[in-house]
Amino acid sequence: MKVPFCRIACDGNEMAYIGEVLTSGWLTTGAKALELERRFAEAVQAEHAVAVNSCTSALHLALEAVGVKAGDEVFVPTMTFTSSAEVVRYLNAHPVLLDVEYGTCLLTPEILTEAIRQHPGVKTLVVVHYGGQAAALVGRDGEDGILDICRRHGIRIVEDAAHAFPAKCGGRMVGGLGDVTCFSFYANKTITTGEGGMLTTNDAAIAKRARTMRLHGIDRVVWDRYTSAKPGWEYDVVAPGFKYNMPDINAAIGLAQLERAWNFQRERERCAKRYLRDLAGVPHLDLPVLRAAVEDQAWHLFPVVVRPGAPVHRAAGRAGHRHLGPLPAAPPDELLPGDLSSEARGLSPGGAGLAGMPVAADLSDAGRRGAGLRRRRPEGRHGRQGLRWDGSRRGSRG
Ligand SMILES: Cc1ncc(COP(=O)(O)O)c(C=O)c1O
Repeated sequence: MKVPFCRIACDGNEMAYIGEVLTSGWLTTGAKALELERRFAEAVQAEHAVAVNSCTSALHLALEAVGVKAGDEVFVPTMTFTSSAEVVRYLNAHPVLLDVEYGTCLLTPEILTEAIRQHPGVKTLVVVHYGGQAAALVGRDGEDGILDICRRHGIRIVEDAAHAFPAKCGGRMVGGLGDVTCFSFYANKTITTGEGGMLTTNDAAIAKRARTMRLHGIDRVVWDRYTSAKPGWEYDVVAPGFKYNMPDINAAIGLAQLERAWNFQRERERCAKRYLRDLAGVPHLDLPVLRAAVEDQAWHLFPVVVRPGAPVHRAAGRAGHRHLGPLPAAPPDELLPGDLSSEARGLSPGGAGLAGMPVAADLSDAGRRGAGLRRRRPEGRHGRQGLRWDGSRRGSRG
């Protein structure tokens, strides 16, 4: 059987909260989105959270809010999804691509230091917490972390934490560390709203600008126009903004997901520990290098490197899987089961490539052996109304 690359677990209070929205008479951004913002800010220990319709839009808003202008250059690591760089181009700025560390797939303080030496004019960094492991924002053993280096050089930091909820760095939650952090609630992410994202920050000016720009540059939230005592239609358009707000239907799903986010994390951590134990020493495979403790990682992905010359399908078989999903940075279709050789399927010369082992909150040990998948029991107070996974859904993105 095929183990799907991602599975959604919507068997908590999702249906109940969506029902509340449908009967409330208000479907777009309103009470549920505000509640999700409040709870998410609490969860990541940030002062402000702004709910949006994707991580891509959060990244766009974040770069705009920190002041990226046409012609600027922005550091972006190569190991990521296209969003981290494309948003730089939205602003007619230019990504300066940086290498990542082998093993962690993360930007390091050393790589950044060298990049600053070569490109002293760059004043913005997008840092990606790849796979759910936080990059070294905070240094260890008294060494400078990425935050220290950026502060020293006047570089603003936008964190792409699409993979990294919940995750920690230096004992603190990712989301309240850098200038501004962007999360994804896309269908395959660690918690989902179908499509959605969140921008978090401790900077009131960034939060205010992002709130304004997420809805056409209007200086009042629409919900506020209807609920406050002030005249309903009085507002100013202060800048040509975007249409990036999160509807309450999506926020309702997010609230139910957030209730179980730490349970999901523990289950994914269980998958990761099992892989770390069972795949250790498998020829031709390099396992992820951990710079953060296992329990501090979101484990959205479990990336493995298949070394050059590996007999790909045998390696996959030893790992117990017939399905290895391609990661976003890798060429499409590589490592999918089939009879083609790795080279014929577009792997880099010699056959090296990056693959993602399936990680899911409800992936059973039997599933990890390729024999089957455990069905979830409904979890929430309204669990019996909850959706159950039907075994056929799969995602395609990192
Ligand atoms: C690293 C990274 N950044 C950003 C995104 C974009 O997220 P969204 O689909 O919510 O816009 C993704 C999505 O896969 C991602 O993997």
